Amino acid sequence: MQIEVAATLQDCQSIDMTGKTAVVIDVLRATSVIATALHNGAVAVLPAETEHEARQLFNSFPSGSAILGGERNAIKIEGFHQGNSPLEYTPEIVAGKTVILSTTNGTRALKMCRQAHETVTAGFVNISAVADFVAKKSNDTVIVCSGTAGKFSLDDALCAGMLISLISDRKSVETDDLGKMVLQFYGSEAGNISAKLKSCTHLKYLQSKGYQKDIDYCLQTNLLNLVPISTEDQIVIA
Ligand code: MLT
Repeated sequence: MQIEVAATLQDCQSIDMTGKTAVVIDVLRATSVIATALHNGAVAVLPAETEHEARQLFNSFPSGSAILGGERNAIKIEGFHQGNSPLEYTPEIVAGKTVILSTTNGTRALKMCRQAHETVTAGFVNISAVADFVAKKSNDTVIVCSGTAGKFSLDDALCAGMLISLISDRKSVETDDLGKMVLQFYGSEAGNISAKLKSCTHLKYLQSKGYQKDIDYCLQTNLLNLVPISTEDQIVIA
């Protein structure tokens, strides 16, 4: 299997995704939120690129059947029910409901994968489930590190490296140069996930906004055994 890695969502423009499996990663925090909401009983997560699109989608649902979630620059969007903290997507809040989610980078990355054969989302919280899913496929894979505001982000890179490592435990894999680099970063001797990410710019930004609990949650591995898959603009459990 060939695995290509996009350093940011903007880099998707130079990758032909036709016929491939796309894996979108936004560890802090969008893809951790998506996996958590589905695990806690959300019917589906609908990614919306803009606040306006999110509100329109929300208005198309019967009262009480959907919730609006999302952030801009990590802060909850005014008037939305929830922000972008996975800890807010509890069973009490999401069970039986559709979550409409608009985030700065993660949900936009999902929209960049429209040409892919199928698109799934990954974070550390569900990484082995995604590795199993991808390894069973015969088509090639593109891992999209969402990044932050157009810039490469270490949290997504480390998760991409771990994902490639787990897939290559299951089958023979070839990667592009960025794939080799993230794999080396993951395999390097510099300590555990938190230690490797302690200088990550977006992580430090989230810390400065008081989101340490979210960070601690998102950096846990294999908390959730599920693969969110995007079908017709809805994300459901595969
Ligand atoms: C995003 O999609 O840009 C992120 O999840 C931002 C955040 O940490 O809230």
